[in-house]
Amino acid sequence: MITVTTKKLSSKQLIIQGLHVSVEGQEILKGVDLSIGCGEVHALMGPNGSGKSTLGYAVMGHPSYEITAGSVELVLLDGKRVDVLAMEPDERARAGIFLAFQRPMAIPGVRVADFLRHCVTNVRNPDRKEGEELMPMREFRSELKAKMAELSIDPEFARRYVNDGFSGGEMKRAEILQLAMLKPTFAILDETDSGLDADAVRLASESIAKIGGDQMGILIITHHEQLLEHNIPLKTHVMLGGRIVESGGPELAAELHKKGYERIRAAYPEAAAAEKAMEDGRVEVSST
Ligand SMILES: Nc1ncnc2c1ncn2[C@@H]1O[C@H](COP(=O)(O)OP(=O)(O)OP(=O)(O)O)[C@@H](O)[C@H]1O
Ligand SMILES: [Mg+2]
Repeated sequence: MITVTTKKLSSKQLIIQGLHVSVEGQEILKGVDLSIGCGEVHALMGPNGSGKSTLGYAVMGHPSYEITAGSVELVLLDGKRVDVLAMEPDERARAGIFLAFQRPMAIPGVRVADFLRHCVTNVRNPDRKEGEELMPMREFRSELKAKMAELSIDPEFARRYVNDGFSGGEMKRAEILQLAMLKPTFAILDETDSGLDADAVRLASESIAKIGGDQMGILIITHHEQLLEHNIPLKTHVMLGGRIVESGGPELAAELHKKGYERIRAAYPEAAAAEKAMEDGRVEVSST
């Protein structure tokens, strides 16, 4: 158990310290430290398989991702620290943490509108028990309609089953719609740009900037810099071999996008060796 001195902070914070995560017995994250304040945008980059999605799943509480050491805490406005790892995934969502999936799963039989009405009601009334009243239909519908128009999403979309038969781009838009409706305090956007055409990436970048603002802390996981165009990161972090090895400003994102990770691997040989070992011992990826 890591003890940390409680300091009065001016904004809410998500603080990850010394996080070690294993999947099926193999250690993937090997001590990740990352703090995001409300109102801040951070970018997380790194080669394929470096552990970026694993960090998102671990923070959200995916049961396959075992935390073997470290902490994830929410610091509230009064300085009170909440242990995120002690919460169930739904409690984490109700506490204001959100993960937009790299590969969202389909939920056949559940319509987008019904799904969102449940999510929004639960997040806005964190103490709501299942079976208790949902947000009034009329109020919900008008809010959903307005958000969909803002994000240029066809209203018909709301009647479809969640991600069922969605194109890659539609899935990513559905994740952004969730973000817009749920307005979390901390959002992890895992490759929300993958599968989007150039115009759609620009729209996604603008939409995220509109949704964000000073009431949201955002971690943008991406391989490119386009999504960051309207969301200039306060810091760019580079993950290699399950560790954040370097942090810099927006120029670091531009460098990695253009030049790749050769310089990073040369500068951090231990992490590069861990990356190699992870590749050699890679476990079969189960569908998540
Ligand atoms: N559920 C899982 N089952 C088995 N192995 C997993 C699982 N999740 C992650 N891994 C392994 O952990 C390592 C890190 O994967 P992760 O998805 O976090 O990488 P990433 O940085 O998000 O990569 P990408 O840029 O390709 O999305 C990989 O070697 C991967 O095979
Ligand atoms: Mg990933």
